[in-house]
Amino acid sequence: SVNRNQILDTKNEEALLGGGAKRIEQQHKKGKLHARERVELLMDAGSFEEIGKFVMHRCKDFGLDKEYYLGDGVITGYGTIDGRLVYVFAQDFTVFGGSLSETHAEKICKIMDLAMKNGAPVIGLNDSGGARIQEGVLSLAGYADIFYRNTLASGVIPQISAIMGPCAGGAVYSPAITDFIMMVENTSYMFVTGPNVVKTVTHEDVTSEELGGAMTHATKSGVTHFVSANEVECIADIRRLLSYIPQNCEEDVPMLPYTGGDEKRLKLNTLIPENPNQPYDMREVIDEIVDAGSFWEVHKYFAENIVVGFARLGGRSIGIVANQPAVLAGVLDIDSSTKGARFVRFCDSFNIPLLVLEDVPGFLPGTDQEWNAIITNGAKLLYAFCEATVPRVTVITRKAYGGAYDVMNSKHIGADMNYAWPTAEIAVMGASGAAEIIFKKEIAEAEDPAAKLQEKVQEYTTKFANPYRAAHRGYIDEVIYPEQTREKLMRAFKMLENKVATLPKKKHGNIPL
Ligand code: COA
Repeated sequence: SVNRNQILDTKNEEALLGGGAKRIEQQHKKGKLHARERVELLMDAGSFEEIGKFVMHRCKDFGLDKEYYLGDGVITGYGTIDGRLVYVFAQDFTVFGGSLSETHAEKICKIMDLAMKNGAPVIGLNDSGGARIQEGVLSLAGYADIFYRNTLASGVIPQISAIMGPCAGGAVYSPAITDFIMMVENTSYMFVTGPNVVKTVTHEDVTSEELGGAMTHATKSGVTHFVSANEVECIADIRRLLSYIPQNCEEDVPMLPYTGGDEKRLKLNTLIPENPNQPYDMREVIDEIVDAGSFWEVHKYFAENIVVGFARLGGRSIGIVANQPAVLAGVLDIDSSTKGARFVRFCDSFNIPLLVLEDVPGFLPGTDQEWNAIITNGAKLLYAFCEATVPRVTVITRKAYGGAYDVMNSKHIGADMNYAWPTAEIAVMGASGAAEIIFKKEIAEAEDPAAKLQEKVQEYTTKFANPYRAAHRGYIDEVIYPEQTREKLMRAFKMLENKVATLPKKKHGNIPL
């Protein structure tokens, strides 16, 4: 029996080495960690249990019948993060470049199936040269098996993808379907077709980093939700993200202890400039409202005219969607609408209450926006809010103009509590635009048109550039002093914590895509 244990010892040691010490060293030289090191960092110390450590590929072609590695290029298993169960797969670039074989895919599917049955998040650490070229269609079948599971799991358990190396071709579509993508600067990239194919087809010269590096996807495409300077930060980010989200769609996020005493926030009284056309940073408003240091932005560098992210309010996890007057005056456009819609739908899927902070002058005009379908894309945000059944609260800090007023979680589309600050302006449009249209004739015929315009602007401002018309109708539940906002919101979300709302029975809705 000593002998038998020795065989196991040897196999265990071999499995730990992946593609061998030399390839691990090469991995380190690229500034990357080995898959096992990543898993160790990710999980609570000593909690990781590996599944399928000795799995090997079954390919006999192109010399692969002579080259085997235990585990077949992916480490899979379960463990805990802050004491909560998670499943993980980590592709091992040192084994056939982390490429995906039939058996590699089977291992991933196995933990996804376990995660679905047991209601816990799946975290994928991606680092792969794509389909295992020697296996042909078997590898493609493996990808499809994963995509299918990603889709079935969507909205049931949280799925997080970290990209820590190459992720190209069909491989991108698993992360794309998951809830969040994280990328590491300089060592990761994602694209459907790489720089060589791009060069042949479109004659563009572009590097991997430019085409599909972390900052490209953070700023231009919005494909990635988070970027980190290195892998250690990326893994810390995964752990932080999980702290704001529940284990599955049937559970709530655990509350953090909260002792109180800091409800009144005087600084909020001074954040809105006197001049309604002057910008201010909505992030400052958010930071003043939520628990100290708890706001964590999602999609920070993409469509910055809207700010979305997670925070804690009196220990409760909430999702925030806020117009950002400091960028493009906070207008809604295509990118900000899709960014907002995606976040709202994530929060709604996973029982995370929504707070909307509103200061929006309307939708962005122009051919670029119209020709690229601001109609369809703006509708996504509207649709996402309309169908959200989680507790929903809005605070209008300043402008709420036109259709954007309706879209931004108005009472009419199902928001539960709507507050406005005294600085709120709830109207069809800004006063000068409005006066020019409705008093066009009167102004033109006046002896002094400029003075007439001024007079009419003043008239419109007095009537509409305030929250009271809406409050008289009950579209606003309460006009509050800014310093009260934190306390009002804590009470509102507590009042709403057992909210039950159901949508009409249907197979699924048809969100404009
Ligand atoms: N299938 C099988 N083996 C693969 C592979 C794949 N898709 N991608 C990489 N490998 C192997 C390489 O043969 C190499 O093996 P070795 O260690 O025995 O020499 C090892 O993985 C590392 O690859 P290498 O090319 O040396 O690494 P790199 O960092 O220089 O380049 C890539 C990484 C991903 C850019 C490059 O490997 C590549 O282009 N791979 C093919 C991508 C592709 O077209 N995939 C199929 C379409 S989805």
